[in-house]
Amino acid sequence: MAHHFSDRVQFKSRLTFILAATGSAVGLGNIWKFPYMTGENGGGAFVFVYLVCVIMMGIPIMMAETMLGKRGQKNPISTMATLANQARANPAWKYLGWMGVLAGVIILSYYSVIAGKTIHYIGRILTGLLWDLDLAGAEAAIDGLNGSIFLLTLWHTLFIGLTMYIVMQGVNEGIEKAVEFLMPGLFLVLMVLVLYAAMSDGFQQGIDFMFTVDFGSLSADSVLMALGQAFFTLSLGMGAIMIYGSYLPPGVSIAKTSAIVALCDTLVAILAGIAIFPIVFANGLEPAAGPDLIFKTLPLAFSGMFAGTLFGLMFFVLLVFAALSSSISLIEPAISYVVEKWGLTRKTACIGAGIITWTLGMGTVFSTNIWIDKKFFGTTFFGFLDYLSANIMLPVGGILIAVFAGWIMRQSDTAESLQISEDGYLYRSWKFLVCYVAPIAVSLVLLGGLF
Ligand code: PHE
Repeated sequence: MAHHFSDRVQFKSRLTFILAATGSAVGLGNIWKFPYMTGENGGGAFVFVYLVCVIMMGIPIMMAETMLGKRGQKNPISTMATLANQARANPAWKYLGWMGVLAGVIILSYYSVIAGKTIHYIGRILTGLLWDLDLAGAEAAIDGLNGSIFLLTLWHTLFIGLTMYIVMQGVNEGIEKAVEFLMPGLFLVLMVLVLYAAMSDGFQQGIDFMFTVDFGSLSADSVLMALGQAFFTLSLGMGAIMIYGSYLPPGVSIAKTSAIVALCDTLVAILAGIAIFPIVFANGLEPAAGPDLIFKTLPLAFSGMFAGTLFGLMFFVLLVFAALSSSISLIEPAISYVVEKWGLTRKTACIGAGIITWTLGMGTVFSTNIWIDKKFFGTTFFGFLDYLSANIMLPVGGILIAVFAGWIMRQSDTAESLQISEDGYLYRSWKFLVCYVAPIAVSLVLLGGLF
């Protein structure tokens, strides 16, 4: 039964773990979310803070989360319960697992709607969207889709269905194979886009926008957004990486794999930005155009390039796969809990989780049409879910993971699991980052952004 997530199988090798974790990390967060967040938060300073967060908090917390999974060998809720018990700590630590499960459901609900739009674009490209496309045409295409409850629901349903279908089979084999060709493929098409952008009129302006750091333009809320984005894009703070950590084969360096995954993920996000902002400026678009930014820019870029229909098609297909390899990790913590703890079959668990996330996702479907003016805490329903999950739940989950690994677990246990020597430089830097830097910085940013 080497095919089921809940049977505590191990990944075949270190490479497989890296591919799976990278599959989880690289997704819509890099290609859809990072560019529009950068655009809405003023560019360079946001990118800078995001990079600092990835290095100072993302990598150490990824190490901590992987390690918790590796020691716990269960779903995130039971893992936290077991490890708290082993450390004679408060059993309430299991609610950290619960918050992660909830965050995964919330994120998947809107993730699926956006991934659904990507599927729609595959169809549009096949039927000639990219021929002689201009800005007005690109805007009309996405506005039309946003206005159509029927189409949004159709593709959202398909994406949730696909996600649950894969998770139902057990994730290992299929996903391992998929990411092996998917990641290099996505990377290649991204390079084509970057080359195209490099030849466009807006290149210099795009690069300046992304890399000129002007802290004057950075609000406390933007800093919180950058932190939230770091957690979101690395899949941290909700148990996805913990679940993958529980399949880690013995003898693998958690420090090295975490650094590699974070590096690949960051590279994809930065390349996506470099591909998109020149197109924004060359076409006189607003960088702060919001969540539809890639749906306005990418079709224009592909339409203008040689063999654009082919590259565009490849890109959107790969993006759907990248979204799938992330979405399965969003729901796997919930599924494995329900299977391991309540004894439901994987199938029943997936159908149940599918219905719940689908229903919640309808709020995001309505966010661009009938609920467009309805305010939830001052923003749209989608905006509210996104803010709550990415900017609050993931950072809070991240701090708690850091605190647990740094303060609650026995030092010798953490060093043993990380496979680094307790008095070495590497271990001591990690310990300092999870004990002090991550909890303090995340708390300050959260408080600053929220109040
Ligand atoms: N990291 C994924 C992305 O960037 C999203 C994700 C978040 C996946 C949290 C799992 C957990 O698209």
